[in-house]
Amino acid sequence: EKTGKQYRPSVHFTPPTGFMNDPNGLVFDGTQYHLYYQHNPDAAYSANICWGHAISTDLLSWKDQPIAVPDTIDGQAFTGCAVLDTHNSSGLFAGSHGNNIAALYTRARPGRQTQFLATSRNNGQSFEEYAGNPVLDIESPNFRDPQVVYHEPTRKWVMVIAQVDQHNIGFYASNDLIHWTHLSNFGPAGLPTVNYECPNLIQIRDESGALHWVLFVSINPGSPMGGSVTQYFIGTFDGAVFRPYDAILRLTDFAKDAYALQVWSNMPGGEAVNIAWMGNWQYCQELPTQDWRGAMSLPRSMTLRHDPNGYLRLVQVPRGIESLRHPMLTEQGAYLPADGRREIALPRGKAIEIVIRLTADESRQTDPNASGPVIERFELAFANAEGERLSIGYDAPSTQIWLDRGKLRGFDHPFFTGRFAAPINGAVYSNPRSVDLHLVLDGCAFEIYANEHLETATALVYPERPLDVLRLETTGVGFTIDSLAIYTLDKTMC
Ligand code: FRU
Repeated sequence: EKTGKQYRPSVHFTPPTGFMNDPNGLVFDGTQYHLYYQHNPDAAYSANICWGHAISTDLLSWKDQPIAVPDTIDGQAFTGCAVLDTHNSSGLFAGSHGNNIAALYTRARPGRQTQFLATSRNNGQSFEEYAGNPVLDIESPNFRDPQVVYHEPTRKWVMVIAQVDQHNIGFYASNDLIHWTHLSNFGPAGLPTVNYECPNLIQIRDESGALHWVLFVSINPGSPMGGSVTQYFIGTFDGAVFRPYDAILRLTDFAKDAYALQVWSNMPGGEAVNIAWMGNWQYCQELPTQDWRGAMSLPRSMTLRHDPNGYLRLVQVPRGIESLRHPMLTEQGAYLPADGRREIALPRGKAIEIVIRLTADESRQTDPNASGPVIERFELAFANAEGERLSIGYDAPSTQIWLDRGKLRGFDHPFFTGRFAAPINGAVYSNPRSVDLHLVLDGCAFEIYANEHLETATALVYPERPLDVLRLETTGVGFTIDSLAIYTLDKTMC
């Protein structure tokens, strides 16, 4: 390996070699979870794209499999989905004894993108292309990334697909996965942008148990943070038309490395689980890991919740990582006075998870004798003796959190910007000066969940030297650390 060993995550999925972008064909087949992905096995940049493949029984420990859908003369195998055709609606599984896995994806050749159907008779190891392909062709150069769901009330397969340049999502229906009829279009909606990509439609429960239809749409470039981002809309879907409840623009992330979010189909109990590609088209082909490039986010369970402003929002929780935890430190009620400092040594080369909740002392803002601006902050930094620092902080007066990866020196690129912030949008706690952070640092993969998982940030990080110290620091006010837990995460010991 030329470079990049120190950056390879141990819990997040990465390709064995070469380039990886979008997750594809996410399906649970009754026994195993499948993760296919956009892959160039021969070089760490995007070319000759095929579908790589890995399987898992817990969505965390992945076993690499052979390439499942090759690049062919019909075009590169671009993004798509996989569904279980349990009742053989396509008629293509006659005599099959396995799981009827059907894939629908885009064949991309210069000037034309068309939709292909392929079926697998060996549990998703390889696919046979349907003889009548393409199953959908509108003579467009930029028409891609089909995702298919079964819509019970109308007893039809429904496809969502990106009309990339028209800035909308096409909805199509089929009885057999082969013949598709146009239903409606959704969009333009959300951010003005260049390309619409990777739509995904799924039902998600809110805190009262009510189901809502959620439509994820990835856009690139045009994110307010720069480059690629995933936006989502919440509304109703009657089998033909998606209608959002409101005109609010929602993003899944407040940093810039969570793209092409996709959801698993056929999850038991209708559980809603996503995974996103940790990358951004602005710099994904130049990352400082030369033999492999690209990582997946942790799998995340999704629910919806009304935030304190009354808006329905996505709650994302990393799924199942409790099973990987090895406790390193647990405490409650420690106090860090104003302008206090505390250091905790971290083991090198291990994935670290931190769950912390804290409350700021009463603000000096109300002090009539205070002069100058009131600065009241908490900062948590993964640092090293060479002065590198990856920090997350909370600004109490403005109730904003921030992420700063700009003091790491392993990757310099004009678009690899350092700082991101999010309002925590009204306190979810009875004490509005409380905040909680749930962090996972695993090689180049860093994830932040804050404010009871209402805010998520996904960021690639490239320190030059290992970050082996955790620093807790306060400015201007004391903080009570209501609870703190630090774990190392380890797959191999489970
Ligand atoms: C999104 C995307 C998709 C396309 C694939 C190509 O990142 O551009 O629209 O199918 O990647 O690898």
